[in-house]
Amino acid sequence: MSQIRIEKYVDELRQITLADGSMFRCTGTHLILDANGNYVEAANIRAGQQLSGGHTVIRAETLELPEKIPVYDMSVPHRLNFVLENGIIAHNSGKSFSAKREISNAFLVTHDDIIICDPEGEYAPLVERLGGQVIKISPTSPHHINPMDLNLNYSDDDNPLSLKSDFILSLCELIVGGKEGLAPVEKTIIDRCVRLVYRDYLNDPSPENMPILGDLYQALREQEEKEAQYIATALEIYVSGSLSVFNHRTDVNIRNRIVCYDIRELGKQLKKIGMHIVQDQVWNRVTENRFSKSNRDGESGPADVPYQKATRYYMDEFHLLLKEEQTAAYSVEIWKRFRKWGGIPTGITQNVKDLLSSREVENIFENSDFIYMLNQAAGDRQILAKQLNISPHQLSYVTHSGEGEGLLFYGNTILPFIDHFPKDTELYKVMTTKPQEVSGA
Ligand SMILES: Nc1ncnc2c1ncn2[C@@H]1O[C@H](COP(=O)(O)OP(=O)(O)OP(=O)(O)O)[C@@H](O)[C@H]1O
Ligand SMILES: [Mg+2]
Repeated sequence: MSQIRIEKYVDELRQITLADGSMFRCTGTHLILDANGNYVEAANIRAGQQLSGGHTVIRAETLELPEKIPVYDMSVPHRLNFVLENGIIAHNSGKSFSAKREISNAFLVTHDDIIICDPEGEYAPLVERLGGQVIKISPTSPHHINPMDLNLNYSDDDNPLSLKSDFILSLCELIVGGKEGLAPVEKTIIDRCVRLVYRDYLNDPSPENMPILGDLYQALREQEEKEAQYIATALEIYVSGSLSVFNHRTDVNIRNRIVCYDIRELGKQLKKIGMHIVQDQVWNRVTENRFSKSNRDGESGPADVPYQKATRYYMDEFHLLLKEEQTAAYSVEIWKRFRKWGGIPTGITQNVKDLLSSREVENIFENSDFIYMLNQAAGDRQILAKQLNISPHQLSYVTHSGEGEGLLFYGNTILPFIDHFPKDTELYKVMTTKPQEVSGA
């Protein structure tokens, strides 16, 4: 930003409300990026319009103010994208882009499986270019994944159901639980029903015996406690109501080496649930890969030395999962288990504050090998300086830094880096999200 000055005074503002419940105000001449990559004046924004970042306008109105207020001009070049979140303007600093860089590298130099959870719907061009599979999860998509999928190697315990039951509990908690989560009685009932619905599958693990949410719903209905009825009713909308996208058997063959789950079209509440379910699907893959050995070719060392195939999992917009207590707790658990079983999780999040928000979540921080840190907001920088012992000089690399500039933390080492990816490459064209570059690709 440069040349901050008062441009004019106004007594009228546009107020725009988005489908996710957020709202912002601006002048009528303020330019807003729409879903097609065009800048539209706020005065011309209408309900129903699709904006950049997957937002839908549900209301656009004009507000009369009691007195004139100043409007500032901050001269932001058009080529920069900005996102609005909770009143803070966060500069796009290249988080997703660096994940894409790392993904293409891992694809070319390892034999590992790569799975991406893509809440913004932006990884498809890269994944398709690499011959991968994009699974679109939305109420209208022909693709489905079943949150009840169970791999019999699912966990180390004698009973493979234990971790699955944890997962279903946290899923129900997202669906049913209010602020306090589920009551102990409710947890007991769900756990009992989970064991019931898997009985046939455990006796005869053929795909047609795999339960779906509807079976869990049915089992709950058959219980005597009134709490069971309460949970069943909360679940109903996900079984026979308008949010039934997760009440189907998995009907995509998720065998590809690189898979992207595009959950952009899920609404706000469903998105969290979607990320949680994808995380569980990835866990299934990790458990399968645990036993699979592939041969390393080309690399140094004999070609016949087996090496365990790792499962790399990239979670963009990870803060969505960290915000909610239940999904945060499950993410922490999965993070540890992933590492133990040859999984390589990578969380991509807007700011580090999310990671330091609780003792539990801090565990993720402590269980990570490296931190790739891009531009940070002022408040966050202070927290970082304190918690991670970063010197003022090092902080300058994450202060108003440009795309692809930041700090890499690895063990006790902190390395500043500048990584400007060449733009005249085929790879850049499938990785960039800048509207003018995407349409030109
Ligand atoms: N290292 C880089 N080299 C060249 N261009 C880059 C680099 N990093 C980012 N860019 C450009 O900046 C754009 C925005 O980056 P990116 O989408 O990764 O931001 P982000 O931090 O994920 O933002 P958001 O908060 O919106 O998710 C990219 O699409 C790309 O065009
Ligand atoms: Mg991003």
